[in-house]
Amino acid sequence: MNKILSIVAIALLVSIFGFQPTPKAEDPKVLIDLGKKGAEVPASLYGVFFEEINHAGEGGLYAEMIRNRAFEDKEVPTGYSVVNGELVPPAVKNHLSGRIEKNTFKWEKETIPAWTINSKGEGASIQTTKTQPLDPSTPNNLLVKINSASTPAIVTNTGFWGIATQNGAEYLLRFYTRSDNYNGAITARIVGFDNTIIASQNVTATANGKWKEHKLILVANASQSKAHFELVFEKSGNVYIDYVSLFPKNTYKGRENGLRNDVATFLSDLKPAFIRWPGGCIVEGITVSNRVEWKKTLGDPMKRSGVYDTWGYRNSYGFGYNEFLQYCEDIGAKGMFVCNVGLGCQYRMGDACSDQDVDFYVKDVLDALEYAIGGTNTVWGAKRAKAGHPAPYPLQYVEIGNEQWGALYNKRFDIFYKAIKSKYPQLTLISNHGLGKGVKSVTKTDMIDPHWYVGPDFFFKNHNLFDNIPREDYKIYVGEYACNQRVGGGNMLAALSEAAFISGMERNSDLVKMASYAPLFENKNNREWPVNLIWIDNDKVVGRSSYYVQQLFASNRPSYNVSTQLQQPKSDKPIPLKGEGGIGLGFMDYTKRIQRLKDHNSRWKCNLS
Ligand code: AHR
Repeated sequence: MNKILSIVAIALLVSIFGFQPTPKAEDPKVLIDLGKKGAEVPASLYGVFFEEINHAGEGGLYAEMIRNRAFEDKEVPTGYSVVNGELVPPAVKNHLSGRIEKNTFKWEKETIPAWTINSKGEGASIQTTKTQPLDPSTPNNLLVKINSASTPAIVTNTGFWGIATQNGAEYLLRFYTRSDNYNGAITARIVGFDNTIIASQNVTATANGKWKEHKLILVANASQSKAHFELVFEKSGNVYIDYVSLFPKNTYKGRENGLRNDVATFLSDLKPAFIRWPGGCIVEGITVSNRVEWKKTLGDPMKRSGVYDTWGYRNSYGFGYNEFLQYCEDIGAKGMFVCNVGLGCQYRMGDACSDQDVDFYVKDVLDALEYAIGGTNTVWGAKRAKAGHPAPYPLQYVEIGNEQWGALYNKRFDIFYKAIKSKYPQLTLISNHGLGKGVKSVTKTDMIDPHWYVGPDFFFKNHNLFDNIPREDYKIYVGEYACNQRVGGGNMLAALSEAAFISGMERNSDLVKMASYAPLFENKNNREWPVNLIWIDNDKVVGRSSYYVQQLFASNRPSYNVSTQLQQPKSDKPIPLKGEGGIGLGFMDYTKRIQRLKDHNSRWKCNLS
């Protein structure tokens, strides 16, 4: 194993730094035969997996700077309750165990997340209400009560662990007010950590009981990373506010409701062949009712309901289906849409919709595909055109369900596969099966999707795993993999082990056609998953060593393999596939998976940051 590590390390050092150590007689050797051609390496091999986890989008890729902009963050999902500060799902039967699982989930602790008022008890207060909603899909708003005009009431939003400004940059503010008795100015401003005013503008509220939209541009006079946003009220009265949204004007490619320029550029530097969206477990939801609903992610962001995210905070649906497809097009990547098959996350509650309701989910994915690639004469294609994009988007892959298994999944997979394939034969359809025998229970799949979250030894020892996998009539998409056991938040050893495993995928790319590391992003203030590829702060984006491994492989993708042979004094023993640590969905039987479920669940509840 150490020898393999040294070879990978040396290969990386040579490619990155041009470093060439003097060879010794006992060193292992790699013999390359340029005359013996191996598998061609497809352009599709290296892609990325986006999921709203660790604030990957909210406070990450998505450029919105106000956290809890629509005051929906404490909206309890329908049918759920909050008991002793924990989110309790409805009692639903897990379709695999037949039991009602007793799980609770993380719930926001702050009363009104990210929002405070300066003068509590001094004549001003804030509270969320559902009075006269701005839009029915976002029922909550914020009531600001200012009883005394003697001290200005200052309502503050912290942003996502601070707001970052650039000197001279423009920020687009949009917010709504409604009042019966407040006629006068409201100051909107960005304020530095040192209380200096970085940008400021006034708007006028009108006391006519109707919602009024305010749009203005704030120009920053300083660069800071820990600023915050304020609304200042200098008169007495009651004012309802809603949808307070602040964006840098300079988003990626200048798109409205767009992406952070630095983060989107950094991701595009990986040259991903495809982007997977929306996940991950969030496709399934804690229960099915809590899944991501792509239709609700379209249109004016002010009207998007958002959803309580499976990973413990609210997803505003800001980085929605259209934004994902647009980003794919912008960076020359193919889109991969993952659909729900009427099953909630089997690691969490695992409920299943009734057989009669499956048609609803089938229609839902067909509508999604029509939106992405259907003609403008179709219902959903016309909506895409109305959103400003008559040409089809580059959507190519559909994964049917996320990390699901069992008889019910297999049955549903067949229904979805047939329905999608008959309408869109050009699309590649992917099942959730690992390397085990489960795939034999479905009629046909184009690809399977095994996942590995393991320790470094597993990847080093299994660098040749795919050499020995029998070739069948489907291909492999390694949809999630990462070395995340016993490597802290990720380190060089983890990256080297991934490099060893990737080299095995690339060598076998007649079989392994696609792969994506997961998870992709972590806002450094919310590490919900232990190891992630890219770390984000509100003004920085950093790739861990694993990022550079991904980049190295993706930007040096050969057109084909040549025969290589490793010569070393003593070869490694063959490795039993059961592996160690983490989830390797390809190899586990049901009982082991349920045990992993339990370990996994306890991990989900703790915030590792
Ligand atoms: O990548 C994190 C999670 O790991 C994904 O949401 C899920 O598919 C897997 O269990």
